[in-house]
Amino acid sequence: MENFVFHNPVKVIFGKGQIKAVGREIPKGSRVLFAYGGGSIKKNGVHAQVVEALASAGLEFREFAGIEPNPRFETLMKAVELARAEKLDYVLAVGGGSVVDGCKLVAAAIDFAGDPWDIVCRKAAPTNAMPLGVVLTLPATGSEMNLFSVISRDETGEKLGWGHPSVMPRFSVLDPETTYSLPARQVGNGVVDAFVHVLEQYLTYPAEAPLQDRLAESVLSTLVEIGAKAMATPPDYQARANLMWCATMALNGLIGQGVPQDWATHMIGHELTALTGIDHARTLAAVWPGVVAVKRPEKRAKLLQYAARVWGLSDGDEDARIDAAVAKTRDFFESVGVPAGLGGYNLGADIPEAIARRLSERGGLPLGERGDIDADQVRRILQAA
Ligand code: NZQ
Ligand code: ZN
Repeated sequence: MENFVFHNPVKVIFGKGQIKAVGREIPKGSRVLFAYGGGSIKKNGVHAQVVEALASAGLEFREFAGIEPNPRFETLMKAVELARAEKLDYVLAVGGGSVVDGCKLVAAAIDFAGDPWDIVCRKAAPTNAMPLGVVLTLPATGSEMNLFSVISRDETGEKLGWGHPSVMPRFSVLDPETTYSLPARQVGNGVVDAFVHVLEQYLTYPAEAPLQDRLAESVLSTLVEIGAKAMATPPDYQARANLMWCATMALNGLIGQGVPQDWATHMIGHELTALTGIDHARTLAAVWPGVVAVKRPEKRAKLLQYAARVWGLSDGDEDARIDAAVAKTRDFFESVGVPAGLGGYNLGADIPEAIARRLSERGGLPLGERGDIDADQVRRILQAA
């Protein structure tokens, strides 16, 4: 196991009826930027609950609507303008990962003297980020309990990740009932995103970290166990609650401490979203089979462990076990409505070359837990996916 420092100060307030805690958690006298997405929270009653919580605590607030999926820098800068004009000093993000990620940049940019895009490019660290609170409505990204944020910019066609401890939420309300209004497509996306977050931190090479391995396997096995129930209608509270907690645990830092991490599927997936607009989780299901096909020799020991512990495949020929584990993973993605492999997405033949070039030109290579995925391997991964 490698050395690590683990510090996760996010207060998680979990369960039905918890949105009212927002009024308690935001300090009195704060002036709140209440930011959300395209309006789902107005249809499902979450907006009304948040307004009630803010108003009954006597908190001043202004609303900013319209943070889109794959949040756009251009939109977020409008929220920053509003916050500056109205002297707002607390950001409340209400929505899915896109709203939370977008609000992390807004919180960092409000009092930032330079060009906020420099924060995303990691040329500058945020100074004096505003405090951020979260009401999560889509279990998927883990953004509610981590320091990461992924921002898209129209002007440059980029989708880039950044992160800073100062934008970790002060609190996150996780009320599984807020997910009842999710379309099936977004529930399936959430299951796959959480699953692949764990794979990125687990399916690498053995690092003598059996606790991290078993924590990762427990999240994977739980997702397999509850996946179908989480998709069911009418929604099942316990399945949604467990999905929500799995998604948070998948990327709150705990399972990845002291172990090698991959993230190639995500980095290639972000390029696919930037080029084609495909939902984040769908890009992961599209790319992952290619990563395990090309990196199979390097990942062999963990692939066998994954086959045995998550899918119960421990007998017979080793290669057959790995093949079966990959096939079961693909079937699992498909079972929640997310096509596995690039073939399910009708993409042009130029995609492998375009993505390899974009990553290479930006200095985004090499990728992978061993830092050995170069432009040629990116091309091969996409051809194999
Ligand atoms: O905008 P509204 O109207 O709210 O609708 C959203 C959006 O259209 C809708 N939705 C959310 N909650 C709902 C709901 N609809 C009905 N009922 C509800 N309760 O769902 C749609 C998708 O929302 P979005 O926030 O985009 O989805 P998700 O949570 O999957 O977030 C994806 C973004 O997070 C980034 C992705 O790259 C992508 O930009 N990620 C962030 C990470 C992080 N911060 O750690 C890690 C991830 O790997 C990921 O990269
Ligand atoms: Zn993800």
